[in-house]
Amino acid sequence: MTTSINSASPSYHIRAAELPDVPAMAALSADGFTTDRNTMVKAMGPDPYDHKATMEMLLPSWMALDPATRGWTVVAVETATGEVAGWVSWGRAGYVPRAPSAEPAPPFDHDEHERKAQADPDPLARLNRLSGANFKRWMDTKLMPPASGKERCLYVSSISVAPKHQGRGVGQLLAQTGMAEADKDGVEIWVHGSEAAGKLFPKLGWKVIGTYDLDLDEYAIAPPPNGDAKWGHYVFQYMLYTPKPKA
Ligand SMILES: CC(C)(COP(=O)(O)OP(=O)(O)OC[C@H]1O[C@@H](n2cnc3c(N)ncnc32)[C@H](O)[C@@H]1OP(=O)(O)O)[C@@H](O)C(=O)NCCC(=O)NCCS
Repeated sequence: MTTSINSASPSYHIRAAELPDVPAMAALSADGFTTDRNTMVKAMGPDPYDHKATMEMLLPSWMALDPATRGWTVVAVETATGEVAGWVSWGRAGYVPRAPSAEPAPPFDHDEHERKAQADPDPLARLNRLSGANFKRWMDTKLMPPASGKERCLYVSSISVAPKHQGRGVGQLLAQTGMAEADKDGVEIWVHGSEAAGKLFPKLGWKVIGTYDLDLDEYAIAPPPNGDAKWGHYVFQYMLYTPKPKA
């Protein structure tokens, strides 16, 4: 792939991610999420969430997917230095039709799933489980419900830009790699967006179709490190890109 941007800022180009990129990709993603308040709260406690280790585990499996049917990962490289500045992993759902099963799956009880999450006595586990339950509800009922015609779609598994390369259009360049594919295939893309993602995707025409508002002070086990009295609310945004009609 040869997509690139040139502006007053340094120029970047896109290429397929390769396994030797994984340590740099995991490290820059951890750096990118350092100021994400939801990630900061999750990274507290006796069993803290480790974003770098999670990405080191997930990236090789995303990169091993069949790009035509399951998903692909690209990096944005700063052309002058060769440094990996950011990356995005795209997932494809429904490109391989599911084999019809003899027994239809029983309906999933989302309310019960959420009640169980709400009852978890550990506040950090409760935060994780509640946002996970909300995400599952959205995937099953709105984003790609079975037999809706929406189950053939793209989604953002993860996107990150290193802090020193942020605000220079790298996120947009990365987002456009999936949007081009969605336009070609005539499918929607969805993302379960962080607060930073909520600034990026709407600029590119994505619509916010839902939010999940968490009062972080209900879950945080310590105050914020910057001296603020409260963590405040964190709002996840479910966003949808609709493909451009074919000419
Ligand atoms: C979300 C994220 C990927 C956006 O990446 P980014 O490279 O900063 O995004 P862009 O530069 O394309 O757009 C961001 C800003 O730069 C501006 N910009 C775009 N092109 C530009 C250019 N050529 N020169 C200068 N600024 C530019 C945009 O207008 C936008 O402006 P804003 O400051 O008003 O928001 C990045 O903030 C990040 O990695 N965050 C942490 C991880 C995260 O939350 N990931 C999303 C998970 S769903």
